[in-house]
Amino acid sequence: MILTKQEQKMLEGEHGEAVQQSMEILVALGKIYDAEKMIQVKSAQISGVSYKTIGDAGLAYLQDLASKHARVKIPSFLNPAGMDRRQWKEMKIPEEFAKKQIEILDAYTSMHIMPTCTCAPYEIGIRPRKHDHIAWSESSAVSFTNSVLGARTNREGGPSALAAAICGITPSYGLHLDENRVSELVIDVECKLNNASDFAALGVYVGKLAKNKHPAFKGVRKSMYGSRIHDEDLLKSLGAAMAASGSVALFYVEDTTPEYAVSKKPEKISFTEKELNAARKELNKCNEKPEIITLGCPHASLEQIREVAKLLRKKKLTCELWVCTSQQMKKRADAYGYAAIIEKAGGKLIADTCMVVCPLETIGYKITGADSGKAAKYLESLCKQKVVFNDMKTLIENNSESIKK
Ligand code: F3S
Repeated sequence: MILTKQEQKMLEGEHGEAVQQSMEILVALGKIYDAEKMIQVKSAQISGVSYKTIGDAGLAYLQDLASKHARVKIPSFLNPAGMDRRQWKEMKIPEEFAKKQIEILDAYTSMHIMPTCTCAPYEIGIRPRKHDHIAWSESSAVSFTNSVLGARTNREGGPSALAAAICGITPSYGLHLDENRVSELVIDVECKLNNASDFAALGVYVGKLAKNKHPAFKGVRKSMYGSRIHDEDLLKSLGAAMAASGSVALFYVEDTTPEYAVSKKPEKISFTEKELNAARKELNKCNEKPEIITLGCPHASLEQIREVAKLLRKKKLTCELWVCTSQQMKKRADAYGYAAIIEKAGGKLIADTCMVVCPLETIGYKITGADSGKAAKYLESLCKQKVVFNDMKTLIENNSESIKK
């Protein structure tokens, strides 16, 4: 790997121990993936924020880096943490967990990383441009920014995204190179997708088949016309599900995504009503009443929060409801009055965290409703939940009652 003089100095420790340690990570990655050189990146999105996922070892690593005066060189921001920083008591988060979580956030902010705590930074104005090189790590955010925005990032791990943030560079390999962004798999979608949970079911099905190929979809655009849900919300649901069931980091949708690069002889598969029903059935692991419905995976947009509020007008929930989003989006939902409607019905807008990376199982829930393919997968494996998978409207209608005057 060829390093510039400046990069060589960084590796030799002339810019301090934190930079040297970070360069060692980047150079090791570059060697593994045969990168010829480093490239500059414009932003970093860093996962490994929840105490639930990184534990004491992760906290010690961050505190060690912070003690070496690590500072990020480029705009850098955080993935969801393990709790809402303001409402953690209402979420019934144990005090010890909250203490550790705050220490993690303190370590990150001491490095000048923005505590956005969201997996959908593109919803709050952090939108890389087409062809921008970036180093993002949360799998759904990686998929969205590569596919829907046309930026270039590999699926970084938390430590490599942090190293890129500290050094402002990343090894040039994988999805940073145009030749690696060509689809070899075309999916002809022959059925109508009615809502975001159908896009999620499609994603879970295709993610398993695609593994790390880049799927290209035909026939999806028609399901977007007239949908009450914003196009981007449907695509983020699709991408998140593929990233969870496979390791898809880039996809194309004909007539929709800014790029659509398909090889001359791709493998072709069809997705019909039959596959859709089978995928939905596989995600729905339980026919009991949920104790809690969790929406907002990836983090909910204002349009999705508005839709929830609309469904809850003059209703009372018969189970708990969390709509997960960022602090910034929650503020907007407060200003528009959507939060008040959701709260009046008995639900909560939860910021900074999500159903998967918070300690849902420790709080005591066992049966969770979800409309997201990614949440459905991880609620089962990481949170020991029985999952009731359905679309947002059905989940809310089946678990609320009208308020009689
Ligand atoms: Fe985001 Fe949590 Fe889903 S990090 S993509 S809401 S599992």
